[in-house]
Amino acid sequence: MAGATVLVVGGGGREHAIVWALAKSPSVAQVIVAPGNPGTAAEAGCRNVAIQATDISALIALAVAESVDLVVVGPEDPLVLGLVDRLAERKIAAFGPSAAAAQLEGSKSHCKEFLLRNDIPTGRSRSFTESAGALAYLAELVVPPVVKADGLAAGKGVIVAETHHEADVAIREILDEGRFGDAGAEVLLEERLHGPEVSVLAFCDGEQFHIMPAAQDHKRLGIGDDGPNTGGMGAFFPSPVTDDQLLADVATTVFAPTLAALASEGRPYRGVLYAGIMLTTEGPKVIEYNCRFGDPETEVVLPLLGSDLYEILMACATGSLDDVDIQWSSDAAVTVVMASRGYPFSRSEPAPIAGIDAAVASGCMVFHAGTATSAGEVVAAGGRVLAVTALRPTLVAAADAAHEGVALISFDGAQHRADIARATAEAHP
Ligand code: AMP
Ligand code: GLY
Repeated sequence: MAGATVLVVGGGGREHAIVWALAKSPSVAQVIVAPGNPGTAAEAGCRNVAIQATDISALIALAVAESVDLVVVGPEDPLVLGLVDRLAERKIAAFGPSAAAAQLEGSKSHCKEFLLRNDIPTGRSRSFTESAGALAYLAELVVPPVVKADGLAAGKGVIVAETHHEADVAIREILDEGRFGDAGAEVLLEERLHGPEVSVLAFCDGEQFHIMPAAQDHKRLGIGDDGPNTGGMGAFFPSPVTDDQLLADVATTVFAPTLAALASEGRPYRGVLYAGIMLTTEGPKVIEYNCRFGDPETEVVLPLLGSDLYEILMACATGSLDDVDIQWSSDAAVTVVMASRGYPFSRSEPAPIAGIDAAVASGCMVFHAGTATSAGEVVAAGGRVLAVTALRPTLVAAADAAHEGVALISFDGAQHRADIARATAEAHP
């Protein structure tokens, strides 16, 4: 049989890492990426098609026209819009949950009801559609709550309020001023949880699941985990906050009941289930689910995969995860994100990038995110631009190598966190 054709939907660093891993599979003949980025276009056997990840009809037409064997969906929006359901109607295998299952990420109040109904540990919360009710409830709370817009808000819909005033402002902005549009038609006021935060991601085939190495993300923009929340400025593995015992605990208390409940509700979960977990003094609690790979966690985790990603994703899509052997490298991995000037608040002018080849020659992997091609040159086009990953036998060596790779790359306005993985590497060499 000729090799498979895979369509990867999305165009960030996460999708570049997925495309890079799929392109290595002996079973894959070609990878089509919609819309992709200059990094995905440069991988062997890969090409970009200029279709946006949310253009569901055009993606279906492309998958049909190219006789695609498997569609791998990177971001959440097409999942929530029902891309996988539309592909199922055409009998095209897809890695990603149905719209009904993706509601776990698509609506935070839906997710909260699901967690409570199934006795999965999470923080207390209440939902409101009117600011008067929300503000009255706020006045009763001693500790300021976390304010969350219900729907998809591109990772910006969570305000961890330090004061009642901040929570008050956030509630009014979301419910009265429509700061997040329809995504903010409802607001959750959630109990603030404390403790180290871990992201636990698993491949899921509807019934079975396999937990991936748990990478730790640095979400804040500034050194020392200070400043505004971002999509993620870097990530690393292994993290001292997780061990096998903790992951086994999360498998039992979170993943197993979640998959069983979704299956029994007629919406079996296929794809990556990503649980954002806070390790509280009362045990692990779910802060959120995402229905996709994390970014930049993917740029740490997939390079550690010692098995064929295509086989795993196809097994998830077809309910046969038990049949594949999934191996991981014992190396440490560090990813440092380079972002444009103004990130996460504003976009900046395109700027030529120098030094990517030098970073690759130094032994790093350089995944593209917000890059573009202009007059034959790769330019930084705004947002998170590149993710520089290094794998080494120890976390110290991986951190050194990734930061050295970053130092070889330059573009006007580049910002990155020089402390990614450093504190952990020094404390747990
Ligand atoms: P999210 O956009 O849902 O990933 O949330 C962004 C960040 O807000 C999370 O990574 C946490 O750091 C923080 N967060 C969300 N919910 C809570 C909570 N209940 N208590 C404390 N921090 C939270
Ligand atoms: N790095 C966090 C996320 O992908 O949501």
